[in-house]
Amino acid sequence: MYDLHAHILPGVDDGAQTEDDTLKMARVAADSGTKVILATPHRRDVTQRSSVDYVRGLLDRMNGKIAELGIDLSLRQGMENHLDLDLPDEVSSGRAIGINGSRYMLVEMPFFGRPNYIEEVMFQLQVMGVTPVLAHPERIEAFQRDVKLLETFVERGMLSQVTAGSITGHFGKRVRRFTHTLLRTGLVHVIASDTHFATGPRSPTLLPGVEEATRVLPAERVQAMVVDTPQAILNDLPVDVPPPQGQARSRRRWQFWRRVG
Ligand SMILES: [Fe+2]
Repeated sequence: MYDLHAHILPGVDDGAQTEDDTLKMARVAADSGTKVILATPHRRDVTQRSSVDYVRGLLDRMNGKIAELGIDLSLRQGMENHLDLDLPDEVSSGRAIGINGSRYMLVEMPFFGRPNYIEEVMFQLQVMGVTPVLAHPERIEAFQRDVKLLETFVERGMLSQVTAGSITGHFGKRVRRFTHTLLRTGLVHVIASDTHFATGPRSPTLLPGVEEATRVLPAERVQAMVVDTPQAILNDLPVDVPPPQGQARSRRRWQFWRRVG
């Protein structure tokens, strides 16, 4: 499996604090079948407390230690980019970075509220050639209140990443129910861990979430969310995802956006 959302680098944000934490998380992930983890420190923390160069060096060092321990897993560089008005400029300056050097970028909408610049900033990113992968839309108030906003974004070629713990109910019954609805209606493309700790409900294992998702969707659809689609994203390849269910009748519009997105 390929995990596209993880706070695994030590001492850069609210995830792993020590190298030991990082190595424990790598071990737990590898033992549960994950081969590649995209390290996605929060952009705000990287900008304010370190730098992109620093986290790249740290990632190389951690990959060396993981290999030394014989753990069958590798880390790739990413970032969890909160969406604000500065994001397009920060992409241009290299302070906001995409997924493993690809066209794809993990973008986190504000948890609360619906600032009026959201659609404009997303549009600017797409014009710049960035394909946003929306971080945990199931936990974002704007989408919880108006699922059509998520449908619109997906129609425009954006992708959606839900967190394994949301599927199993770690973030509450309401989030769990909403996540299952998103799974059923084709508004989920990737399942990731958003891991912060080696153990507990925010551990790197994807398995409980995957298992529960297969009660909602056919196993091959779920498999695509943790293998085929994240692998294509990491390799900067186009992704082949089914259109959202609500858009079945506007297939032509969907195909148009997929081409330009
Ligand atoms: Fe995160």
